[in-house]
Amino acid sequence: MSIALAPDSVYSFSEQNLTKTAVYPRLRYMGSKYKIVPYLSHILYHLPFETALDAFSGSGVVSYALKEMGKEVVANDFLTFSSTISKALIENNCETISKSDLELLLSSNKDGRDFIQRTFKDLYFPQEDHVFLDSIWSHMSGLSQYKQAITISALCLAAARKQPRGVFTITDVRYDDGRRTMHTPLKSLFVEAIEQYNAAVFNNGKNNRALCSSIFEINPSGFDLVYFDPPYAPPKDDADYIKRYHFLEGLSVYWQDQKIMEHTKTKKLEKKFTPFAYKRTIREALRELFDKFKQSTIILSYSSNSVPDEKELYSILHEVKSNIEVYAIPHKYSFGTQVTATRRQVNEYLFVGR
Ligand SMILES: C[S@@+](CC[C@H](N)C(=O)[O-])C[C@H]1O[C@@H](n2cnc3c(N)ncnc32)[C@H](O)[C@@H]1O
Repeated sequence: MSIALAPDSVYSFSEQNLTKTAVYPRLRYMGSKYKIVPYLSHILYHLPFETALDAFSGSGVVSYALKEMGKEVVANDFLTFSSTISKALIENNCETISKSDLELLLSSNKDGRDFIQRTFKDLYFPQEDHVFLDSIWSHMSGLSQYKQAITISALCLAAARKQPRGVFTITDVRYDDGRRTMHTPLKSLFVEAIEQYNAAVFNNGKNNRALCSSIFEINPSGFDLVYFDPPYAPPKDDADYIKRYHFLEGLSVYWQDQKIMEHTKTKKLEKKFTPFAYKRTIREALRELFDKFKQSTIILSYSSNSVPDEKELYSILHEVKSNIEVYAIPHKYSFGTQVTATRRQVNEYLFVGR
């Protein structure tokens, strides 16, 4: 039923002149569509639209590509750290971290705070890194909202790059794969990340926005096109983002109003329920989502190793859209849900419903 798209070589960032997206500050994020963007933009190029919602924005790379394509973009994710990345690079059109901002951020701890040092001692990073994170946060309130967003995004990127596989499900160094970033002080990784975020800020002349909300709370009007990349319901295990990225989520707000599950070894935050992550709730969730946004052109990303399958997805989308095309893209996931997971070859589907 689906139309197979040719291998990677045919679709490249340069085909659509997405030169900025090609060097997007890349966060290793479960389900990130960085490699799919050239295919996606190839399909989007032929569709008429000016305004777009990236409903599950994650790493922000799809919103960023839409911004580079000149569209008016709303990026949404219910995780604060994801939404903060979008604030820094999608909503923010011109502010960057100046040399004097950086000097301020790297100066000594302004108020002596030590929450991170106390809470995460001996867990993820050497204590000097925790000292650095507390210190950076002591200066945060002196910055504008967009500068704060860049700073927080750079902190998250640095922390993810230092942590094995970028996830916070493990607390020891057994998985040390010898990468440079695992042995580099967070401070240096942060300065590198700031440079990358600064370089990525640009203005596409549109009023773009970043939201942090459940998709079911978003007003559906005003979007010519909506892009849905929900968590995939895997046949086994789960697609829990908090389990993997709780440290980044906490770091993005300095754990304010967050509930740490103190009995857990990883000191993780409470799970954030989403109906998309489970076999028993995914179908109804998709049905509700499609119905809510049926006035817009709907693009859905979905993976062949998840449920429901292509045929069933087609029929759920067909309840609101009569004209549907399905594209299949061969895709290798860089990591699975198990520590030992190998790279798996799956088809990434793109459903286009008009
Ligand atoms: C597959 S990832 C998106 C990846 C993204 N397209 C990228 O390229 O990085 C799914 C995202 O959906 C978010 N999410 C899950 N349930 C949600 C909900 N009900 N409302 C909004 N966002 C949700 C998760 O936090 C996660 O970032």
